[in-house]
Amino acid sequence: MDVVDPSPLRHFVVAKRSITSIFDQLLDFVKDGSAFVDEAWRSEDPGPVAVEQQSVEMQSCASKLSTIRDVLLRRHMKVAFFGRTSNGKSTVINAMLRERVLPSGIGHTTNCFLRVEGTDGDEAYLTTEASNERSSVTTVNQLAHALHMDPTLDSGSLVKVFWPKSRCALLRDDLVLMDSPGTDVTLELDSWIDKFCLDADVFVLVGNAESTLMNTEKLFFHKVSERISKPNIFILHNRWDASVTEPEYIEEVRKQHLDRCVSFLAEELRVVGLDEAPGRIFFVSAKEVLSSRTQRAQGMPETGGALAEGFQDRLREFQRFERTFEEFISQSAVKTKFEQHTVRAWQITDAIKAVMDAINIASADRKICCLEQREDQRDRLEVVRGQINRLSDDVRDKIKTLTDDVTARVTSALSDQIRSLPVLVEEFRAGFTPTQETLQLYKTKLQQHVDERLVGGLAHRCSVGVFRDVTDAQRHMIDSVRPLLSPSVQEQLSAPSASFQLTYDLGLAALCADFRENIEFQFSLGWTALVTRFIGVANAKRALSGGAEPRPQDASSFRDEVVVSIATGLVSATSRASMTVLVIGGVVWRSVGWRLIALSLSLYGLLYLYEKLTWTDGSRERVLKQQFVEHAAHRLRAIIPVTSSFCSQQVYKELSATFSRLSQRVDLSDAELEGNIRQLSVRIQRLENIQRRSKAFRNRASELESQLENFSVQYLQ
Ligand code: GTP
Ligand code: MG
Repeated sequence: MDVVDPSPLRHFVVAKRSITSIFDQLLDFVKDGSAFVDEAWRSEDPGPVAVEQQSVEMQSCASKLSTIRDVLLRRHMKVAFFGRTSNGKSTVINAMLRERVLPSGIGHTTNCFLRVEGTDGDEAYLTTEASNERSSVTTVNQLAHALHMDPTLDSGSLVKVFWPKSRCALLRDDLVLMDSPGTDVTLELDSWIDKFCLDADVFVLVGNAESTLMNTEKLFFHKVSERISKPNIFILHNRWDASVTEPEYIEEVRKQHLDRCVSFLAEELRVVGLDEAPGRIFFVSAKEVLSSRTQRAQGMPETGGALAEGFQDRLREFQRFERTFEEFISQSAVKTKFEQHTVRAWQITDAIKAVMDAINIASADRKICCLEQREDQRDRLEVVRGQINRLSDDVRDKIKTLTDDVTARVTSALSDQIRSLPVLVEEFRAGFTPTQETLQLYKTKLQQHVDERLVGGLAHRCSVGVFRDVTDAQRHMIDSVRPLLSPSVQEQLSAPSASFQLTYDLGLAALCADFRENIEFQFSLGWTALVTRFIGVANAKRALSGGAEPRPQDASSFRDEVVVSIATGLVSATSRASMTVLVIGGVVWRSVGWRLIALSLSLYGLLYLYEKLTWTDGSRERVLKQQFVEHAAHRLRAIIPVTSSFCSQQVYKELSATFSRLSQRVDLSDAELEGNIRQLSVRIQRLENIQRRSKAFRNRASELESQLENFSVQYLQ
């Protein structure tokens, strides 16, 4: 099996593929990174952790990379051929291409710069500077014709010849060959260099074996080495076959040429050392090589030059030139074409790393802030919950104290009011006639009057104080709760209600509904009156009704009670006026006997008469009022606890309502805090995510850097 030695040009091709792949990855990476930075900059929650400048920087990195990548794709190795007219520049190129691609001939043949590069298609074509239109060229004669027919072309213009890669191995390997008009036909060497030479990797000076290097050729390369530091120059002594005519001098001539060229390269131009210089100088015959190669390609037997004397040596020299040139150009082109871009890529990854680091730090800082805030809010929530529990206990105690106080206050006020009932009743004035209808009206009005005065009195005694206490307590609650609320909830906090009013529902009308006055005339010394006086109204009624009791055993004991009551009643009755009369009567009886009886009787009669006569409407009204006072006082005393607890209930309701409203506010504020905490947790998670991603981007940048490092170790050192 034949092992074909791969062309040294492959080195460039492989390096180009490798660096392009790194740039492809870089470009994808930077695009992702740019989107990430943009997101980090525009983020609403957790807010920007990148700045616009970083986003812009990433975008500019992306666009730089994409430009470089495009440049890389177009990168090729370029070799430019210079020399005097008819030295065989075009023929050398054809020999290297192994096909007659470029026109050659006697006299000034090449009239402009011709750049030969590969095309993937099967058709050869050319484009000019004036138009990018492709003109198809199938034969070299067509090309020559096209060039000479175009009036716009001169020695400073460029024509690109695209030759199918399938027909030439050199072109497959990204080599571009540039033919030029003879250096002796122009004075515009400077503009040539600017236009065609600055990106050339290798220059080949084609001289001829018959003459030495001319001044125009030397001048050109002097100018080149002024513009480009250490240009790579090869010197071909073409037409070496012509020297065969004088074989005796051939070695001498060769040595002369070699010495002059070595001196030119190493001493004049100083582009190589003296020891290296001979390796750049070759003695060849392009014409022979071309014809041999084309004939062989066509499968024809080699004739003419191929059989000339020394042909094999010259062919080997040409092959040696090709090999050296290929090795040289690929090494050199890889360095000049990719080194700068590798450095550029490095700078870009550095910049991206810096951006990612900054984002990482910014998000870490923000995260710490959020963590602190969340801790703060959690503490606050805990404090608020503890406080509100303590406050509830406190408020409960306070409400209890206050309601107890209200009970006591109302109890005392109502008791006092009951005591002053006689006065209240007394001051009531209304027309009094003891008929059934007017009496009813009178009593209703009396009740209303007493009710109003009682309620008024209670209000006077209690309402203001209670109102003050209640609002004080409410204010105290609000003030205690306020610090527990979030500012937004605090704003909604209202002042204590000014509308609280204690109401006292005595229901006197209902209490006195069963009030029955007794304003019939009653003689103060009559039997009923006496009994009533001694044993009380209720007992008297029972006694006087003559034992109409349901149970007989109760009746006998009841009579004993009556006797005892009379005895004790007699003792206690000394202050009463009629009793005085009785006692006086008893004393007088003992001393004066029957006269006294008569006197007593008449006194008794007079008294009766007197009382009967003075029993007017006024007396009736007085008696009614007195009875009303007794009745009302009795009933009111019974409802003191109910009334006072009714009042304290109102206070209790008011205060607990206030506190429950406040508790709701606290709940609201709590919910707000919990919401904040939740939101902060989400934010922290997002920041962690950003941190993670920025770190991943940084790692990826380092990974790409190590790929660049590998590339530079492999190809650039
Ligand atoms: P311009 O394009 O006019 O600048 O000339 P050139 O340098 O391109 O030379 P070209 O290749 O056109 O060759 C000029 C003449 O020299 C042609 O007739 C070639 O056939 C001839 N020629 C080229 N190389 C050799 C060679 O090695 N030996 C001999 N004997 N003749 C050669
Ligand atoms: Mg030519």
